[in-house]
Amino acid sequence: MRLDIVTIFPEYLEPLNVSLVGKARARGQLDVHIHDLRDFTYDRHNTVDDTPYGGGPGMVMKTEPWGDALDTVLADGYESGAHAPTLIVPTPSGRPFTQELAVELSERPWLIFTPARYEGIDRRVMDEYATRVPVQEVSIGDYVLAGGEAPVLVITEAVARLLPGVLGNAESHRDDSFAPGAMASLLEGPVYTKPPRWRDRDIPDVLLSGHHGRIARWRRDEALRRTTAHRPDLIRHCDPKAFDKKDREM
Ligand code: ADE
Repeated sequence: MRLDIVTIFPEYLEPLNVSLVGKARARGQLDVHIHDLRDFTYDRHNTVDDTPYGGGPGMVMKTEPWGDALDTVLADGYESGAHAPTLIVPTPSGRPFTQELAVELSERPWLIFTPARYEGIDRRVMDEYATRVPVQEVSIGDYVLAGGEAPVLVITEAVARLLPGVLGNAESHRDDSFAPGAMASLLEGPVYTKPPRWRDRDIPDVLLSGHHGRIARWRRDEALRRTTAHRPDLIRHCDPKAFDKKDREM
């Protein structure tokens, strides 16, 4: 997968050099290109923003630098053989980022991110590129950040771990909270590792029972308990029949 990120803070994206994403890059599973938006400004002050038409607080990112940057990124990518780009615009007013959207994006060959600062990007930029490529405005949650760079890190990590061969055998996204399957829409319950006793705290006996059916049922019940406590809204997506079927198989 190819990723292009256009930003006024390239250094904000340094975390893409470490851990899972860094390793995926080193292995050639992820081809990341970071571009400085200010390289596409032609005035002495490298201006990327201006006051909003119609008044109001804050500044709006200008059309010209974004247009020149995106034209360059698209031309570079196509020239190097990339195809079918999707433009991802992080914004609190976008489509909520979910595991489902992460899976969808992980199936695309080329993602271009446009993290904005200030009050956002002049609307005409998204309208212009929407005539050429799919544009997806994405929100990572109902809160307002200072810019789209942190959302780019979040989205990239969620997508990268779904790419074939990126997670090792020791890790798996099969049991993730929100992973598809009978446990769909349930949050993952607690996990434990050695030692079995720590500060007088024992791990639940069932986990030492060696009984896979009982362990699976315990995990399911813990997931239900946790989901009821933290995300009662998710419970209604559960299919109790899928649980019963699973219980019969145990
Ligand atoms: N930019 C600022 N806040 C954001 C959010 N919650 N999601 C995506 N982009 C953002």
